[in-house]
Amino acid sequence: MIKKAVLPVAGFGTRFLPASKATPKEMLPIIDKPLVQYAVEEAINIGIEEIIFITSEEKYSIEKHFQKNELIEKKLVLSGKSEYVDKLNPKIFSKVSFKYIIQEKQNGLGDAVLQAESAVGGESFAVLLPDDLFFSEKSCLSQLVETYSRTSTSVIAVNKIDKKNIHKYGVIKPGKEEFGAILVDDIVEKPTADEAPSDIAVCGRYIFTSSIFKFLKKTSADKSGEIQLTDAVRSLLISENVHAKIYDGEKFDCGSKKGFVHATIALALRDESISHDIKKIIKEIS
Ligand code: G1P
Repeated sequence: MIKKAVLPVAGFGTRFLPASKATPKEMLPIIDKPLVQYAVEEAINIGIEEIIFITSEEKYSIEKHFQKNELIEKKLVLSGKSEYVDKLNPKIFSKVSFKYIIQEKQNGLGDAVLQAESAVGGESFAVLLPDDLFFSEKSCLSQLVETYSRTSTSVIAVNKIDKKNIHKYGVIKPGKEEFGAILVDDIVEKPTADEAPSDIAVCGRYIFTSSIFKFLKKTSADKSGEIQLTDAVRSLLISENVHAKIYDGEKFDCGSKKGFVHATIALALRDESISHDIKKIIKEIS
């Protein structure tokens, strides 16, 4: 049903300097897998056929990561390490095509999504922000698709958060509940705690109807010079319904050091090959 996914990865990753100087922050690993791969797998697992990265010239290692590396594959097989082949060249990558579009200027998330217009065409599509890492039995994107199949509208993943952190997110004003989701009455990007219309914040997964592009083109830059996706959604609301789906599952904000380390510890404790030792180490340290 939703066949294309857009992954904006052009951001510089200032918060992760110096690690992000020569390595894209999306390529930093949570244990042994780059952050961006978690989002790509989430997309492929719901049947996405084309992954469209909105990227920058310097981030060629992302492209390299998703290409098949036959040379190393042969070496692994010859040296009797065939069990690593699927880690090197996961079979699921061959199910999809990868497209790379350069965002010339860092003009914000809205501008990044707009770069995908011709690649997306007139279809509804998904947007995944790889900084947000989700773990749940039914993936976050799958929960959105389920809602979309009932509403045929744009659907945004949201979760309730502490008001003291609300200024970091897009925040919705909830309307009535229908189709197991919330009709969005309004949406604001990064409001202060006092101005926030609710404690329901946007997380980094969306499904959009293609009309979003029309509104992205009309959206002007905010005070910081960035074109906000949230502002385009706000305009979209005037002509189309938009739903928000409360995400059921765990979320890690890997765009912050705290979230990144939290995700690393949580995953390490679930990795059977190291969890026992990691538990011991944590006990010793604390
Ligand atoms: C972006 C969006 C924001 C959303 C957030 C989710 O902000 O602009 O509306 O709540 O992602 O992670 P950013 O984190 O890029 O500042």
